[in-house]
Formats: sequence, C-alpha cells, structure tokens
Amino acid sequence: MLVAALALIAVETDNTSLIMVSDQEGVLRTAHYGERISDPSEFLAADLFSDPYSESHTRSYPSVGGTFINQPALHVKYADGTHNTELVYKGHSVTSSDGATVTSIDLLDSVTSLEVRLVFTAYEKENVILEHAEIRNGGKKEIQLLDYASSSMTIEAGKYLLTHFYGGWATEMNIDREILTHDTKVIESRRGTQATQCNNPSFLLSLDTDSFSENDGEVVAGALAWSGNFRLSFEIDESGRLRVLGGINPFASSYPLASGATFVTPDMIWTRSPEGAGGASRNLHRWARKYGVYAGGTVNPTLLNSWEGAYFTFTTETLLRMIDDAADMGLEMFVLDDGWFGNKFPRNGDDAGLGDWDVNVSKIPEGIDYVASYAHSKGLKFGIWIEPEMVNPKSELALAHPDWVVQSPGREIPTARNQWVLDLSNPAVQDFVFGIFDKTMSLAPSIDYIKWDCNRTVASFGSKYLKKNQDRFYVDYCEGIYNVMRRIREKYPSVIVQCCSSGGGRVDYGALRWFNEIWTSDDTDAFQRAYIQYATNLIYPACVMGSHVSAVPNHQSGNVTPLKFRFDMACSGRLGMELQPKTLTPEERAVAERCIASYKEYRDLVFRGDVYRLASPYEGDYYSLMYVSEDRSRAVVFDYCLRYQNRAVGSHPLKLRGLDPSRKYRVRELNVDRSSWWGDGGAYSGEFLSSGAFAPSLLTTYSSGVFYLEAL
Ligand code: DGJ
Repeated sequence: MLVAALALIAVETDNTSLIMVSDQEGVLRTAHYGERISDPSEFLAADLFSDPYSESHTRSYPSVGGTFINQPALHVKYADGTHNTELVYKGHSVTSSDGATVTSIDLLDSVTSLEVRLVFTAYEKENVILEHAEIRNGGKKEIQLLDYASSSMTIEAGKYLLTHFYGGWATEMNIDREILTHDTKVIESRRGTQATQCNNPSFLLSLDTDSFSENDGEVVAGALAWSGNFRLSFEIDESGRLRVLGGINPFASSYPLASGATFVTPDMIWTRSPEGAGGASRNLHRWARKYGVYAGGTVNPTLLNSWEGAYFTFTTETLLRMIDDAADMGLEMFVLDDGWFGNKFPRNGDDAGLGDWDVNVSKIPEGIDYVASYAHSKGLKFGIWIEPEMVNPKSELALAHPDWVVQSPGREIPTARNQWVLDLSNPAVQDFVFGIFDKTMSLAPSIDYIKWDCNRTVASFGSKYLKKNQDRFYVDYCEGIYNVMRRIREKYPSVIVQCCSSGGGRVDYGALRWFNEIWTSDDTDAFQRAYIQYATNLIYPACVMGSHVSAVPNHQSGNVTPLKFRFDMACSGRLGMELQPKTLTPEERAVAERCIASYKEYRDLVFRGDVYRLASPYEGDYYSLMYVSEDRSRAVVFDYCLRYQNRAVGSHPLKLRGLDPSRKYRVRELNVDRSSWWGDGGAYSGEFLSSGAFAPSLLTTYSSGVFYLEAL
C-alpha cells in the first residue's frame, strides 16, 4: 500500500541530502541520507513503512513507546512512572547563518506535553551535517531522561564495515574494523574525565564492501562533540537497515528535567563521501578548520616543551638554557610543563602540590615573569602547564576544600597518579578552575600558551554539591568544563590552549570548540606515532595534532629511531621538541635546525591543506601522506618506511593525489644532501606524479622523506 507523507524536509549540502518525511500518523521518518537528490519531493510518495509489524527502522528520532521496540534515541520516565513517549511532527523552519542552513523540526507528544526540537545544521560546501536535540518538558511535573541521544541516523546498504578506535594510555587511537552483523554494537566511554583514552566518539562506515578503501566507495563518518561519557550504537534490525545512535552515555545519568526546562544535547557530526575514507576525512577536516576547532587552521608555533627533557627536576637556570637552545634551533615557543608550583607541598613528583598554583620559590625564585620575559627577549613565545581539574591529597587545596573532591559519601577516595578529581559540577569549583587559569595568565604580562592537562578518570563518583541529584554528575561535570572554557574564551580569545589528558584522553569535537590543539599522545616514539597519527587524522585535522621530537631510546617504548625520522614524523603535525637539547650532538643540532627551518616553508599546508593518505601503516610497511593547498599549487609529501625492504625492490612507488594533472610541479626533497628520488629537482606533471612514477628509494627501517612540490 502506498501511503503519502504529510510533510517533507530536505537537509542539503552541495553533494548530500538528508531527507525526512512525516507519515500519515505524523511519525518523522528518515527516507534518505546519501547523494544529493535534485527533486526530494518524489520522496513524498515513498512507501517507507509498509510493514506494520516492523515499522521502527526508519524513525528519525525514535522514542520508547508506541510500537517502537528497537534501540531508542529517547527514553523518558514520567512522574507517574510511565515510559511511553509518542512524538508527532508539528512543523519545521529553516534559517541560514555563516555558510550553513539550520533546519529545526518540532515534534510533540500531546499526551505528556514532551517537546523535542531536532536541529540540523548543514554546512553546504563542506558536506557536513550537525544534529542535536532540544528536549523540553512541557508537562507539569519533573521527568527523568533515561536515554537522550543527539542523533539517530538511518543508513541503508547491503554491508556495513565499521572502523573505530581503541587503545589506552600512550597507545591511543588504534584501529579496529568489523563487518556489522544483526543486533547492536556499542562503543562507549564511562570514564567521566579522559573519556577518549580508550576509545573515541567517532567512526567511519564503509558501505557495501568488505574492505576499507581510502579512495573509493561510499563512506559515512560520524563524531560526537562531547568530552564526557559517550555512547555510539550501531543496530541492524530485521529490515537490514542500520540505525546509528550517537549521544551522551546515559550510564548512571538519568537526567532530571523540571517542568518547563529544556535539555540540549551535544552535536553529532555527520558527513558522507563517495570518495572513500579520504573523502570523508577531507570533509570533516575542512569543516573543522573553519567551524569545529577553536581558531582552526591558524598556524600554531613550533615549540620546545620541558617535560621529557627535565620532568620535575629543574631550576631557573635549566629553563633559561633550554630557552637559549630552543631559540638557537629556530623554535618559536618554550613551554614550561609540570613541576613549577607548590611550596608547602612542592611539586617535585606526581604525589604532591596539585591544586597549589603558586610558583615554587626554590626552583624559580625569580618568578614565572622572569622566565617568560627571558623567552620573549629571545624572540620566543612562552607557554605554561596547568592541571586545574585535579588535586593531590598532599596539597593545601585538599586540606582547605575537601568538599570539592569527587567522592562517594562514607567511602575512601581512590587515587590515581596520586591525585583526586575536583567536582566540576559545582559552580564554586568552576569559579576556582577559571580563577586558576586567570591567575596563571597573570603570572607574566604575556602568556601565549596554556597546556591544560587532565591526568585521571573519575572513580567512585559522588558530588557533595549535587546532594540528591547524583544522576546529574557526569553531564554537569562536562558542562562545567565547557562553562569554564566559555569564560576563558570571553576573556582570553587569543591565547593558544592545548587540550592534553595524559596525551589523547580528551580528543573530541566538543573540546575542540574551545581548544586550539591536542596533545595527541604521550607516546612520542615516531614509529608508534605513525599509527596514532594516521588514525587520529581519519577524523581530526592535522592542525590540531601536537607532535614532538623526543630523545632515544624513547621514554615510553624504548624504541630507537633516527633523528630525521623523528623530525619527519613530527613535521606532519604541529611540530615540537620535547627533550634536553644539551644532549644533542653538533650533527644532531644541525639536523634539527635544518628540519625546523624547512618546516616553516611548508607548514601552512599541514595546517590548512587537504590530506591525501597514500599508504596506511595498517596495510603495509609504509606510512605515506600528503597535504595539498586548496588551489592545488603546492603540496608536501611525507613518506616513512616502517620495515626493512628487500633491496631488489629498489624503490617505493607512490601515486600522489590531489594534484592538478595538467600542471607541472617542481619536486624538491627537503632536509637531505642526496635525494632518495631520482627525479629530485625536476618539474613533472601532476598526471605523471600520480601515475606511480614518483618512487623514492626509502628501503631501510625508519628511513623517511619529505618532498615539497610547487607548481611552475
Ligand atoms: C601528562 C601529559 O600528557 C604529559 O605531556 C605531561 O604534561 C605530564 N602529564 C605532566 O605531568
């Protein structure tokens, strides 16, 4: 039976359409998310719900209640104990703003007076669609939100190959792949803080294929902009359709909503590309640089960070000499990491001082201003580390404010890295954390960069402030961070703030609205970084990816790699160094100076170019990628050999991508006296360079090359 729909809503970008219809009963259904449809009105006649026994699969925002029986986006418990919500389409409106079209769809349950507004923001040029829900309790009594996803996307294909991320400390963002089968696959975090240390609220879905392709085939990518507990679920129901739900994890978080109150979910970010994973990444990155990352696409300075070079043991003299060395090598900023604060409980290790943000007078009697001014006098910017969400039991703060610590009443507070978590759901703690940032900014007339760290997860949660409302803790904690960041950005719009959480423990598009960059991982081994950076870059743009050259043997993995390999790897993100420069030989210093100087020539491509991944470390012995300028006149290619090759092979052919086939490009290998490619220095057409003729001879383990291409 063909049943005409009542309303049609098309959310469109240049190349994609998300088409929803409201059926005869007023149920909002997703008819299509895929290639752009020139005449969406034909969907008005589409028969989307022919089987009354299994009609739940196309619902655009399914709620527990009525005939719906699968994984819900929304589950509400009402004051009378009932669980039934049946939403009906009421109307929609469309507005435009800043390169985007915003479509708001209003749904209502007339029995319970629950209102849901689904808000879709379509970024036309970037082919990215954001969705969130605004859930309003129009009833007279408080209700409980038991599930409150941001988005429910219906995707239809014969096969769904899911790529997602897993890991742990210093081994974040490994890749898992699986063909989805019937029923539900869940990816979630319950860590509270450091929500992304072991997995990430993002994924790629390759459609109608068994194998992952960088360049071909339909790929849908999704990412949730939320830094707290998250939940992504992938359910293939009896119809064979896939429904992806993305949102805050309702784990221990049935959220109370008072009469008249509205709960706004975070945004779920969607893109779809017919050009494989590469196309999906480029869409996300273009959107992120323009809209999704704080000051995205701005070139951030190269830096020397004191952590792996000095750890907790330094004096003013140590820092000044590091600054001298950083300036001599051509770096642009010095970042003083952990260890600079605490007097009654000096921060000489990770067991004391967190919370007491006064400069340690034994280590730096002259004060931070003295060190910062010295850096500035040498032409460097100055940055400093804080971890304002945390407290050591051995601190003046812990003695003064035991009520601010996350704690389950009557139980011992578990420590991790010898520290406790402060209760950011409490506005007084939010004020304190903002105050720490503010105070740190005033330690010197010009602080250019703050590294914001967060080194443990929540355990045995409990908030003195929330009293009987403990269910709000995880959500309010994350909102608490965002409240603080909002205030920080109002007062300090131009300070660069790095989001670090023992490395990549807080890598998500919720944090990136406020932070300029991430500390990608505490694993600075360039070999391991090939895997971590490859995967991070599937979702997040290179402009956010802090990447440092450190000492060998590597402090985390024990691995030994050549200095040039370490530089070449770090140069494919935001370059930094993190070692004691005094340990470098004159020859190594020369390598460093050369690599830093050449990075400045092409780094705008890393920060603003389109990425084309040429070889995956997961699929062979090489990791290779390139960044191409928007006008295709310049490009930089990075090629890393991860495993010794049979000499008979001779070279490693790479098919360059993203170039203009008809233009000629001068190719120059950087940072070497003798190039690894026979054609170095010559000019070749984009067509030739994309044919596989570009084949550097990089055959030994950890050999690497950086090639700069300029159109004639
Ligand atoms: C963890 C971070 O990831 C490191 O880079 C460093 O800042 C330490 N914390 C300092 O305690």
